Amino acid sequence: MSDSESLKKQAAFEAMDRVRDGMRLGLGTGSTVAYFLEALGARVRAGAYCDIMGVPTSLWTAERARELGIPLTSLAEHPRLDLAVDGADEVDLDLRLIKGLGGALLREKMVAQAAERLIIVADERKLVPGLGQRAPLPVEVVQFGWEWHRPFLEALGAHPTLRTDASGRPVVTDNGNYILDCRFPEGIADPEALDAALSRRAGIVESGLFLGMADEALIAGAKGVDVIRREAA
Ligand code: A5P
Repeated sequence: MSDSESLKKQAAFEAMDRVRDGMRLGLGTGSTVAYFLEALGARVRAGAYCDIMGVPTSLWTAERARELGIPLTSLAEHPRLDLAVDGADEVDLDLRLIKGLGGALLREKMVAQAAERLIIVADERKLVPGLGQRAPLPVEVVQFGWEWHRPFLEALGAHPTLRTDASGRPVVTDNGNYILDCRFPEGIADPEALDAALSRRAGIVESGLFLGMADEALIAGAKGVDVIRREAA
């Protein structure tokens, strides 16, 4: 296992300490959460939990959870969740996040909002001094008129690119939408202002900016897992 995979696993295992029997969980998406799902599934199969259920944030997570024997539920059945565990593409010291490189940002944000607590699991490469310096910001848009957003996003300082697959076809999210990956050459100067501008735009469904949502980030590095808490932010 490579160093970065081993760090992801450490962060994910640390999150398992926050899980209690009886919880309704939000199950994130991505390669770091994959280790959390594995650990959770192993405990379920070992009989350590008799009443635990998860709401998956993507079709991928739903399939993986089923393979691992994790009981699933929905926001309709459980509109309030105890805890959501998810990865991130960038985390700053104020626990502001960029998410969505895995394309699941919309369901991830809904599940995060439904949860009492959101815990982020990541390796230290994800920790940044300012958002937008490492990862593009994914912006999910309806297919109708998607090109119309390009000049709007450029006026906000972004360099948007339509996300495509290996054959050049647009990637379609689990919700039937497209994603514009927005690079900010200077970083995102004011994430709150950008978030507000994006949320006012018809046809933009959601962005990967998660502001004021994470309660804790478990960041694995060479010296162990650092815990960043919102209270300390
Ligand atoms: C999925 O849409 C994303 O928000 C992921 O949580 C994020 O991309 C982190 O994924 P990795 O753990 O694979 O880096």
